[in-house]
Amino acid sequence: MRVTILSLFPEMFSGVFKESILKRAIQKDIIKVDIVNFRDFSTDKHKHVDDYAFGGGPGMLLSVEPIVKALQSIEGFETAWKILLTPQGTTFHQNTAKEYTKKDHIILICGHYEGFDERVRYFIDEEVSIGDYVLTGGEIAAMAIIDSVVRLLPDALGKKESFENDSFYDGTLECPQYTRPQEFMGYTVPEVLLSGNHQEIEKWRKEQALNRTKERRPDLLSKTDKKD
Ligand code: ADE
Repeated sequence: MRVTILSLFPEMFSGVFKESILKRAIQKDIIKVDIVNFRDFSTDKHKHVDDYAFGGGPGMLLSVEPIVKALQSIEGFETAWKILLTPQGTTFHQNTAKEYTKKDHIILICGHYEGFDERVRYFIDEEVSIGDYVLTGGEIAAMAIIDSVVRLLPDALGKKESFENDSFYDGTLECPQYTRPQEFMGYTVPEVLLSGNHQEIEKWRKEQALNRTKERRPDLLSKTDKKD
């Protein structure tokens, strides 16, 4: 899968792609990441990419031209899935991550400042938010999206990792999990997990996942038919 990021702050990504699963996914050619700084496409002699809003008002807006020129410079941009990151977009969910795994190439456009010239929206496929809060820019949203998509790609997770038991994978939260020691400061591991009875363990895990979801995120259950 190709991932292209449009950002004014490419350095912000240097950490995430150098560690752990994303690093390995790049090394194994599961993803190919390119970062394009759209400041390079400014026609302004001072390399400005923002300007005052017509009609007045505080703050600066990102201009349409450098963003569109940067998009057009990307090989295959016409068929790539172009995602604009803003708090006004549709909320990103695990299902959105699953959908993105089917794409050959996604382009993530990270804004900064007060927002975009509205006309940027004519050149994108989807506008996405990672939640109802405002970040200083789209970079952290792009990192969250890339991370959640890449771990779902075939072979991105090693043998010891898996996403089948993840929260949200089947519409419920993950069940409680335990590792050694069997007892810590009086807190013990549920007997059933030590029983070796795989059927019982599976049943317990399903029940726990369901109870936890009922308690913490009943809204998830109303979207599936797992209520009882
Ligand atoms: N840019 C600023 N806030 C954002 C959010 N919540 N989601 C995606 N992009 C953003």
